[in-house]
Amino acid sequence: MPVLTEEAVRTRLASVLDPEIRKPITELDMVRSVTVDGGDVVVGIDLTTQGCPLRDTITRDVTTAVEALEGVTSVEVVMGVMTDQQRKDLRTKLRGGTPEPVIPFSQPGSLTRVYAVTSGKGGVGKSTVTANLAVALAERGLKVGVLDADIYGFSIPRMLGVEHPPTTLDDMIVPPVAHGVKVISIGMFAAPGAPIVWRGPMLHRAMQQFLGDVFWGDLDVLLLDLPPGTGDIAISIAQLVPSSEILVVTTPQLAASEVAQRAGIISHQTHQHVVGVVENMSWLEAPDGTRMEIFGSGGGEEVARVLTAGLGYPVPVLAQVPLEKRLREAGDAGVPVVMAAPESGAAQALAGVADHLATRARGLAGRSLGINPR
Ligand SMILES: Nc1ncnc2c1ncn2[C@@H]1O[C@H](COP(=O)(O)OP(=O)(O)OP(=O)(O)O)[C@@H](O)[C@H]1O
Ligand SMILES: [Mg+2]
Repeated sequence: MPVLTEEAVRTRLASVLDPEIRKPITELDMVRSVTVDGGDVVVGIDLTTQGCPLRDTITRDVTTAVEALEGVTSVEVVMGVMTDQQRKDLRTKLRGGTPEPVIPFSQPGSLTRVYAVTSGKGGVGKSTVTANLAVALAERGLKVGVLDADIYGFSIPRMLGVEHPPTTLDDMIVPPVAHGVKVISIGMFAAPGAPIVWRGPMLHRAMQQFLGDVFWGDLDVLLLDLPPGTGDIAISIAQLVPSSEILVVTTPQLAASEVAQRAGIISHQTHQHVVGVVENMSWLEAPDGTRMEIFGSGGGEEVARVLTAGLGYPVPVLAQVPLEKRLREAGDAGVPVVMAAPESGAAQALAGVADHLATRARGLAGRSLGINPR
C-alpha cells in the first residue's frame, strides 16, 4: 500500500476550488498547513474573513477531496483567518499583479464581451432577459457575470435566487454565484426598504467600483442590466467600458418601440455597437393555440429597421418572446425559465438569443481597438 504523503494531500487539494473566487484554494494560498499521521490528515485552511458564509462548503469540499485519497482514515479541517498582509497579497494576485483596481474589461487585451441590456421604457423585461441569458450562456459553458446596474428597481438577485451578500476582501468585492453566474447588484449594498437617491457623479463612481473593485475573474461574457431610460448610467458605462455593446429590449407596442429606438440611437454618439433587438411580450398563446397580440405587433421589427437605417449596419431582431405565466413564476422563484421550463416557448426564444451571443463570444474580430486618428 502506498504511503500517504503531505505532497499527495496538497496535490489533491489543488482540485478544490474556492466557491466564489473559483480558483484552486492552493493557488489562493488558503492552505495553511497539512499534517499527515498514518492515515489521519489535518488540513489548516485560512479563510479570507472570519464570518465567511462559505465556511461549511469549503470544509465539505476539502474533506470530500482528501477522503478520496487511498490510505486516508480521517480528515480534520481546522479553520483560521488570513492576516492583513495575506489578504493584501491575495488581492494583488487576483488583480493580476496590480495593487490598484483597474476595470479589466476596458484593458486592450480583454476578451470579455460586455453587453448592456437597455430599453428606454421601464417594465418591458430587461431584467428577465438578462437573467435568462446569463443562465443560458453559463449552461453553454461560458463564464458569465451579471451586473445589476438598475439603481431604482434592482431585481436581479431575486430573479437569480441569490441568497447571500458578496464577501469582501477589504476593498475587493467577491460576487456570489447563482446557477453558475457571478452576480453583483446595487441592491446588495442598500439597506432593505431604504430609498436610494443617486446623483450622476455618485452613479459613475458606483459603476466604476462595480466594474473595477469586484473580482470578476476571467469572464467570457458580462451582462449589464441597466435602468430604464437613456440616462447617466448608460453614458457612464459607455465611458468606462467603451467596447461594451448594446442589446435593446422592447415590447411590440409602437410607443415602446419609439423609446427603445432612442435608447439604441444613443449608441451612435457613444460609438457602441448594437448587437440586436429582443421583442418581449410578443403574444399570449390561448389554449387553442391562437396568438393574442396583447401589446399589438411590429415593435421589434420597427426598432430594428430604424436602428439599421440610423446606424448604417444591420441590427437584427434576435427573438420574439411570448408572454407566459411560467416565465414570470420562474423569475419570482429565482430559477429563470430557461432552466425551470426549457421546453416553453419563451425559454426557447431566449435560448435562441443565447446561442447567437455564445457563438460570437470572445475574440477581437469586429471590435474597436480604441485607436483614434490624430
Ligand atoms: N414574457 C413575459 N411573460 C410574462 N411575464 C413577463 C414576461 N417578461 C417579463 N415579465 C414580467 O414582467 C415584469 C417586468 O419584467 P422585468 O422586471 O424583467 O422588466 P424590466 O424591463 O427589467 O423592468 P424595469 O424597467 O422596472 O427594470 C416582471 O414581473 C416579469 O416577471
Ligand atoms: Mg429591471
